Amino acid sequence: MKRRKLIIDCDPGVDDATALLLAFAAPDALDILGVTVVAGNTGLVQTARNARIVRQIAGRADVPVFAGCARPMVREAVDAGAFHGPSGLGTLAVFEPDAPLAEGHAVDFIVRTLRAADEAVTLAVTGPATNLALALVMDPAIAAKIDEIVMMGGARSAGGNITASAEFNVFADPHAAHVLLTAGCRVTMFGLDATYQVLSSPERVAALEAVGTDAARASAELMRFSNGIEADPGRRAGAPLHDPCTIAWLLDPSLFIVSGAKVAVETNGGLAFGHTAVEFRAGPREVNANWAVRADGAGVFALLNERLGSL
Ligand code: RIB
Ligand code: CA
Repeated sequence: MKRRKLIIDCDPGVDDATALLLAFAAPDALDILGVTVVAGNTGLVQTARNARIVRQIAGRADVPVFAGCARPMVREAVDAGAFHGPSGLGTLAVFEPDAPLAEGHAVDFIVRTLRAADEAVTLAVTGPATNLALALVMDPAIAAKIDEIVMMGGARSAGGNITASAEFNVFADPHAAHVLLTAGCRVTMFGLDATYQVLSSPERVAALEAVGTDAARASAELMRFSNGIEADPGRRAGAPLHDPCTIAWLLDPSLFIVSGAKVAVETNGGLAFGHTAVEFRAGPREVNANWAVRADGAGVFALLNERLGSL
């Protein structure tokens, strides 16, 4: 497999953390140019610290972490603290990491890295898309240097998870999601329709913990925290594993089925604010994203066990 140049933009966040661990565990496949952080699940100071904590757990101090936007482009800031705990990393022990943040703003890093890239770069976006959207506003020409935007966000048949009709990442910055979806880039979008098929059942969490590495144990602890909040034995076996689907796609696309669609975002406020309208009946010139419709949950967990066992 040719190594893919990758920037991960995230808001760690319990599931962002597992996505980062999975990516850090795949140096053979992913050349991670940098991690950029945004406010989302919790405030920017915490998301930036949390990304550095996860980097230290993975032993990947070679990957720079840049702090980015502290608030969405237009709307007022919202967070998802109820799902991620006061630290943003559930019950995981938090500490001041050894390696500092990289100098400079994440948006500047994205722009200068893409301008200088001698081959197209993939962007994995697992939080509100503010950083990448502002980079595209700052220099629209960087879109030509983007190989693929793989984003976790949106919902179609699954309904919303932060309002009745909106998924958190898109709800937290709908205008940013609109910028990504209208930039002319190849977009692969993992909404709740797919991530609700990747559930951290107690059996899967136990198997991950038994892998025995620090990374596997940390990921299992994060999932247990989420299960304490989101598992609903009567409805689903465990909490959905949202953000790692983006990295699993990059490592093994056979784990998913995607379908071309026109995805539009409601940015006008009101009851449907942040809603993603996913239209599969779009004509070929209207399609702006590949929307994930199926996910192999067992396969994603087998990939996690294999990769986190190597850290
Ligand atoms: O709706 C799920 C998304 O919102 C995930 O990215 C999770 O980390 C939260 O940010
Ligand atoms: Ca996230």
